[in-house]
Amino acid sequence: MSDQEVKTESRVFPPPAAFAANAAISGMDAYNALCAEAAADYEGFWAKLARENLHWHKPFTTVLDESQAPLYKWFDDGLLNVSYNCLDVNIQKGLGDKTAIIFEADGGDVTNVSYKELHAKVCQFANGLRSLGVKKGDRVVIYMPMSVEGVVAMQACARIGATHSVVFGGFSAKSLQERIVDVGATIVITADEQVRGGKQLPLKAIVDEALGLGDCEKVSKVIVYKRTGGNAPFNAERDLWMHDLVANQATECEPEWVNADHPLFILYTSGSTGKPKGVQHSSGGYLLWAMLTMKWTFDIKPSDVFWCTADIGWVTGHTYITYGPLAMGTTEIVFEGIPTFPNAGRFWDMIQKHKATIFYTAPTAIRSLIKAADGDANIHPNKYDLSSLRLLGSVGEPINPEAWMWYYKNIGGERCPIADTFWQTETGGHMITPLPGATPLVPGSCTLPLPGIMAAIVDETGADLPNGQGGILVVKRPWPSMIRTIWGDNERFKKSYFPEELGGKTYLAGDGAIRNKDTGYFTITGRIDDVLNVSGHRMGTMEIESALVANPLVAEAAVVGKPDDTTGEAICAFVVLKRSRPTGDEAKQIALELRNWVAKEIGPIAKPKEIRFGDNLPKTRSGKIMRRLLRVLAKGEEITQDISTLENPAILEQLKQAQ
Ligand code: WTA
Repeated sequence: MSDQEVKTESRVFPPPAAFAANAAISGMDAYNALCAEAAADYEGFWAKLARENLHWHKPFTTVLDESQAPLYKWFDDGLLNVSYNCLDVNIQKGLGDKTAIIFEADGGDVTNVSYKELHAKVCQFANGLRSLGVKKGDRVVIYMPMSVEGVVAMQACARIGATHSVVFGGFSAKSLQERIVDVGATIVITADEQVRGGKQLPLKAIVDEALGLGDCEKVSKVIVYKRTGGNAPFNAERDLWMHDLVANQATECEPEWVNADHPLFILYTSGSTGKPKGVQHSSGGYLLWAMLTMKWTFDIKPSDVFWCTADIGWVTGHTYITYGPLAMGTTEIVFEGIPTFPNAGRFWDMIQKHKATIFYTAPTAIRSLIKAADGDANIHPNKYDLSSLRLLGSVGEPINPEAWMWYYKNIGGERCPIADTFWQTETGGHMITPLPGATPLVPGSCTLPLPGIMAAIVDETGADLPNGQGGILVVKRPWPSMIRTIWGDNERFKKSYFPEELGGKTYLAGDGAIRNKDTGYFTITGRIDDVLNVSGHRMGTMEIESALVANPLVAEAAVVGKPDDTTGEAICAFVVLKRSRPTGDEAKQIALELRNWVAKEIGPIAKPKEIRFGDNLPKTRSGKIMRRLLRVLAKGEEITQDISTLENPAILEQLKQAQ
């Protein structure tokens, strides 16, 4: 979002009175009271919530352990089980027959699964995993489509204390292999194929390819969920069908009671340098925050039908599909398909059909559906009955005020608050977001931190900045659902998130932000590192550059983001080939080849939208690539910055032209 937009946005939307009257946190006084409670007795605040909300097998006696800071621990001498909290506890509360998951397949088939049924499936699969020798602390990689079975696989790992690492089904064999190796997985769970937009796409074949790339000897078994019955390779010695594994297993499974800080999952995400980082999350603190944010941000009620459109391959799918809603005993929708199949009215049709009350999606999806609705009146949201909705959410990237207004009017009928939730893979759950029954909304602002989240804006030395002045977003105190470490690399964890320059105990989010002079509302101004956000997917420029230079044709590459109306940011790559600079059709051909190459190296989501070829890249005399100039060129703007340190100014003219 541009600074201009931030400064000029003045529309304010107070919470509707009817909503506020029934909300868990009703009115700003209630919000302020919770914030004051956290400020007065920080540990006491969290301890009380942890006791009230979680089922503890053995209660904790210490709340926050700072002895190894910034390797913080929360509630760690308490024992609990995440799957027990999500399933058994709700069945004990009498919700056994309540629908846990309404699953809608790509083609439209609907399956309802009750809490009792889900519990049985999870127990059977957990017993199956145990029969294979999987035990507490083992790592299991999950490479699955959106499915009940995907949720079951994650919950089953949690039940036996195995740590899962879900890899998004759009990642390539190479990305999958890197994650399998880094996490040291002994089991991979996948499906024969996935179905998206009416097409069958391979999954198992990609797993085989990944395992064939080497260093995966630890993987003893590949468990395959039969989704399509299509033609997937099957190695009878190593592979086994999920339905065979669970066939004779008991529908009860004694949970593994783990310490609160036991790693529930490791999820890889992009940083500014090197390979993706394995973000390690805890069990107790993580689940607590998943539940509290369901209560506070989503004001979840027993009668809600909650729909988060994320994939379980991303953190949003972990917290707001697999764990948060189930821990709250919610009925939720799990969707296999894509928003544009069979047409771009799919989301609205599903909201109408399942009477969804809370809808949580990404700005990219909203922007692309605005375009689609403008182009085809038949799939305009006004053709559907969306009156079941009472609350909307947005996640993953800044939502521009235009998209916000469209969402508010056309989907929310000007009656549903919008929770613009700012958070990250590392934070485990929402951090800065409006509370629907309390916070007056301003389009494009994620408003205020949740109670207990000590967010602030500082300069490079860690000094607080006044409202109205943009700076670096930090969190000054540890919170229960925070990242525990980068898997296997405490040093990288410390350097990335708790840098010495900020004192070593302040969490560095990696985003820039500014607070409104009058209201103190936060607006996120974008990443301050070399991380791109394309359609809400995080991508490191270095990863894409490494993929490009691995191609035999490429000598050098620099990747930058450029603003894009639909995807937020788009990937623009500047490439120097080992041969002479191509032009015309040849350039187009090579660009196509390189795009496909990146898809194979990382995954289709990392394909550059644009590739420009140069004889060289703009560099300083010491050989550093001047990315800020490339960013200007990518935007198609004139360079007005000082280029006196540039060694080869002539190159700018060449790189100005798209190929
Ligand atoms: C960006 C996704 C503005 C931000 C949950 C952050 C946002 C990164 C918002 C994390 C928002 C996420 N407004 N920017 N509401 N939500 N971001 O790890 O740059 O995939 O650092 O987690 O997305 O992306 P991640």
